[in-house]
Amino acid sequence: MGKERFKEILNSELQRLDESNVSKRKENIIEKFVSIDGRAKKAVVDNKEYILFNSNDYLGFRFNEDIKKAEEKAIKKFGSGPGAVRFISGSLKIYKELEEELAKFHNAESAITFSSSFAANLAVIHCFIKGQTKSSLVGREVLVISDELNHRSIIDGIRVSGLSKENKVIFKHLDYDHLNQILEKNKGKFSRVLIISDGIFSMLGEYADLKKIQELAKKYDQYYEEGILTIIDDAHGVGAFGETGKGCQEVCNTKPDLIVATMGKAFGSDGGYVVGDKIYIDYLRESAATYIYSNPTSPGTAAAALKALKILQSEEGKRLLEKLKQNQKYFKEKMKYNGFRFAADSTHPIQPILIGDSKKTRELTNKLFEEGIIVTQISYPVVPLGKDEIRIQISAAHAKEDIDELIEKIVPIAKKLEII
Ligand SMILES: Cc1ncc(COP(=O)(O)O)c(C=O)c1O
Repeated sequence: MGKERFKEILNSELQRLDESNVSKRKENIIEKFVSIDGRAKKAVVDNKEYILFNSNDYLGFRFNEDIKKAEEKAIKKFGSGPGAVRFISGSLKIYKELEEELAKFHNAESAITFSSSFAANLAVIHCFIKGQTKSSLVGREVLVISDELNHRSIIDGIRVSGLSKENKVIFKHLDYDHLNQILEKNKGKFSRVLIISDGIFSMLGEYADLKKIQELAKKYDQYYEEGILTIIDDAHGVGAFGETGKGCQEVCNTKPDLIVATMGKAFGSDGGYVVGDKIYIDYLRESAATYIYSNPTSPGTAAAALKALKILQSEEGKRLLEKLKQNQKYFKEKMKYNGFRFAADSTHPIQPILIGDSKKTRELTNKLFEEGIIVTQISYPVVPLGKDEIRIQISAAHAKEDIDELIEKIVPIAKKLEII
C-alpha cells in the first residue's frame, strides 16, 4: 500500500470537494484579452470572450500602457529577476524608490516591500509577537486580538506563530464592544497587545472602523507594559477606496501603527508592503523571514507598481477613482431594483450577492459563464457553510454597457433559480 493509500485518501477528499460544489481547482485558462472600444477588456477562454466581474484590478491598471512601459524599461535596466534576496547581492534601486513613494503616499515614516501581502502579514505578525523584552510579566506575554473574518494570511500568521490558546483571542466581526471587553478583561495580564483587522473585508466589502480601533488602543495602551500595536491589512482598500485611494486610513481619517497592503490588486502589479514608523520597518528588515529568506518581486513588477502609484496620485488617478465610485453605485442600485440581496452593505467595489445554497450558487455562476460573464462563487471555507455568495467586483475599466449586460443576463437566470 504505502503511498498508494495516501493517494487514495487525497482522491476521496478531492471527490468530496467536487460533490459538495465547492472545489476550486478547475480554473478558467485565459488565453488572451481582447479590446472592445470603451469597454472592459474581455478574457478569451476556449476561444470564447468573457467580461470579467471577478478581478481585483479596480482601476484597470494591469492594461495601462504607461505602466507596461515602465515595467519594460526596468527590465532593460535591471534584468528580469532580482538575482537574490535583497541583503545578499544588493538591493536594486527600484525597490528603494518604490518604498519611498509608498511611505510618502501613506504619510508614514517608512515602508518595506515583500513578494506578496500574504508574506507581509506572516512577517508582521511573527516579528511583533516575537520581539519580546526580557521583562515579561507572564510566560509568553503577547496577546493577539483578531477580527473573526480576517484574511487567511492573518489567520495563518497567528497559527504559525506558535502562541498558546491563552495568547490569542478572536473578536466578533466588527464588534468593537467585544474588542473593548477583551482589552478590559486582560488589563495587566500581558505586556503587549496586537490588534489585527482587515481594512476592507475581502468577502463582503465592509470596512473596519479604524477610528474606533485606534481609540480603544489609545484607551488601553497604558494598561499593557509595551502598549498596543494596531495592524490593518488593507489589501483591497488601497487604490480602490477613499477620495484619493488611500483606503480605510483615509475613509476613517486615522492612522494605524502598521498598514499591510498589496500591489497585486488595484496597482495592477504584484507584491506586498508594510508602512509604519521607521523603527518597526527597520526591525522587520532585520527579522522577517519572508523578507530575508525569500526573493522580492522582479524589478519590472516593482517599477509597474511605482508607476501605478504615481498615476493614482495624478489627475488620471482621481478620474479613475471617481469612475469606480460611479460604476459601483450604478451597479448596486440596479441590482437592488431587481430584487437581489446583498450579504453586506458595501460601498467598496466588492459587492457580495447573497445566494446561500452552494448548488444554486454554482448553477448561477455556470449559467452566467455560458452567457459570457465570469463571476466567482465564494463558498466554504472562505465563507460559512450555507452562506455562499457571488462576489461581484466592479472596476473603473467597466463601461456602463458592461454592467448593463451583466444585469440583463443575471436577472432571468436568478428568477429561474428563485434567487430573486
Ligand atoms: C485582505 C487580503 N490580504 C492579503 C491578501 C493576499 O494578497 P497577495 O496576493 O498580495 O498575497 C489578499 C488577497 O487575497 C486579501 O484579500
